[in-house]
Amino acid sequence: MTDAFRRQSGPFRAGDRVQLTGPKGHLNTVTLKEDGEFHTHRGILSHNTVIGAPDASVVTSTNGIEYLALRPLLTDFVMSMPRGAAIVYPKDAAQILAQADIFPGATVVEAGVGSGALSLWLLRAIGTTGRLHSFERRQEFADVAEGNVAAFLGAVPSNWTVTVGDLAESLPTAVEPGSVDRVVLDMLAPWECLDVTADALTPGGVLICYIATVTQLSRVAEALRRTGLFTEPQSSETMVRTWHVEGLAVRPDHRMIGHTGFLLTARRLAPGAIPPQLKRRPSKTDYSDADVEAWTPGSLGERQPTDKALRKNVREAHAAAEAAMGASDAVTTEAPTDDQSDNREPLE
Ligand SMILES: C[S@@+](CC[C@H](N)C(=O)[O-])C[C@H]1O[C@@H](n2cnc3c(N)ncnc32)[C@H](O)[C@@H]1O
Repeated sequence: MTDAFRRQSGPFRAGDRVQLTGPKGHLNTVTLKEDGEFHTHRGILSHNTVIGAPDASVVTSTNGIEYLALRPLLTDFVMSMPRGAAIVYPKDAAQILAQADIFPGATVVEAGVGSGALSLWLLRAIGTTGRLHSFERRQEFADVAEGNVAAFLGAVPSNWTVTVGDLAESLPTAVEPGSVDRVVLDMLAPWECLDVTADALTPGGVLICYIATVTQLSRVAEALRRTGLFTEPQSSETMVRTWHVEGLAVRPDHRMIGHTGFLLTARRLAPGAIPPQLKRRPSKTDYSDADVEAWTPGSLGERQPTDKALRKNVREAHAAAEAAMGASDAVTTEAPTDDQSDNREPLE
């Protein structure tokens, strides 16, 4: 545990991760180790060639093959790290930081922690003076997340706690009522956690929910309205369309990530406050619990990786964390070259 975050700029050092791009554009991610070696069928690249070189240098293997060496950005890291559950994509993480107004020094609650992708963005945004309380009901996912965070930051930061358990049960004993600035829910059934969230949030604090389907979005919006404890929820989705820009061929790329999830935000009202716009008669579009239940059937189950795949990801995350902390041999991993082949699944 440490307050120090791994340096994200400057010359490469042992323990740093480096992305190596060869002549064919293939990407490999390596954790640097004194006297370590990166083996490919094109020869051997000594880690010592990279250590001490400035970020974004070109380094050469024993066979004279050149590689561009880049320190992975957080975006690169989260897209290639081992996964337990599906991750929040960078485009959504950026919106979460903005819409939830995550600030340096904030006290933030997050559930579930899944693979730790969003935890990394939140830790970066709150800085060393903030505090992140993450909750995850599956121990294996918490293990993957802790490994990923340690691998990227070089250590598990002391201002981050991961509690294994259900948020609805664990949150009341983990934080003082009214002490939390922001709550971020990325889970199948956020409507089950609204009461504990309301108790934890300070008046004016922000709740943001990341939700995969319209049925879940509707359900959480209606459940949140019924509490009478929050401002009117705002909902959105974020689409990022990348462009091909080369000479006169300037056009949108043929492929894009079509859907990941929706965001819903609301702010905690002060005790007893009833905003003027909420003093309205129920509209004909209001519907009952039974209607909502019928619309969000039990078939909305969590999508689970196989036990074998999960065990492999836990091992990979731990190995990467140990390598980053200098406790084991260098790790060499193949990273996906095409992020879009790994779209977030619609369900958890
Ligand atoms: C989609 S994943 C979260 C991904 C994570 N935000 C990331 O970026 O890596 C959802 C996680 O929520 C967890 N979860 C679902 N309901 C929960 C609850 N009530 N309390 C704690 N964790 C929960 C699941 O086990 C799962 O790991």
